[in-house]
Amino acid sequence: MELTVTLEINEKKHVLTLDSRTTLLDLLREELHLTGTKKGCDHGQCGTCTILLDGKRVNSCLILAASADQKSITTIEGLSSSNSLHPLQKAFISHDALQCGYCTPGQILSAAGFLNEPWERTTEGIKEGMSGNLCRCGAYPNILTAVQEVLENQKLLNPQKASHS
Ligand code: FES
Ligand code: FES
Repeated sequence: MELTVTLEINEKKHVLTLDSRTTLLDLLREELHLTGTKKGCDHGQCGTCTILLDGKRVNSCLILAASADQKSITTIEGLSSSNSLHPLQKAFISHDALQCGYCTPGQILSAAGFLNEPWERTTEGIKEGMSGNLCRCGAYPNILTAVQEVLENQKLLNPQKASHS
C-alpha cells in the first residue's frame, strides 16, 4: 500500500509517497540518497543505522518510515551546523576514533543521543550507554575517549569516577 508522509529531515521538509513497508533506513539511503546512515545487520543489533528521531536515538532499520510521519530526523549529514563540525565529529577526528569508518556515523549519532539521556557521566556509564553500537574494527577505546572529551568540555563528566583506561 502506498501512503504519503511528511518528514523534516535535517531541517528540510519532505513530503514523500512511499510503500508502507519502507523502513526509515531504506528511505534515507535508497530514496533520499543520504548514504551517511549505514546498513549493517538490518535487524536492530549493530547500531550502525542510528539516527535521531525527534532528538532521540533510534535504529532506523527498525522504524517504518510511515510511523515517522510529522517527525523530525537528524542524520550525520545534518549534524553539523553552518560549516562547523559538531563537537562529537571534531572529537572523533582528533582522537582517531575510527578505522574503516563504517560504524562511525552511527556511533556519533548514538553519542549525540547519549548526551541528552540520564546516563551516569562516567567511563562505565559511557560504555553502557554506547553498548548498542558495535565496531568491528575495535575502535572502542578511542570512541570512549572522544565521548569523554565532549563531556569534559561540557563540564558534564564526573571527575571522581572517570578514567581514560
Ligand atoms: S543496521 Fe540497524 S541495527 Fe544494524
Ligand atoms: S571503525 Fe570500522 S567498524 Fe567501526
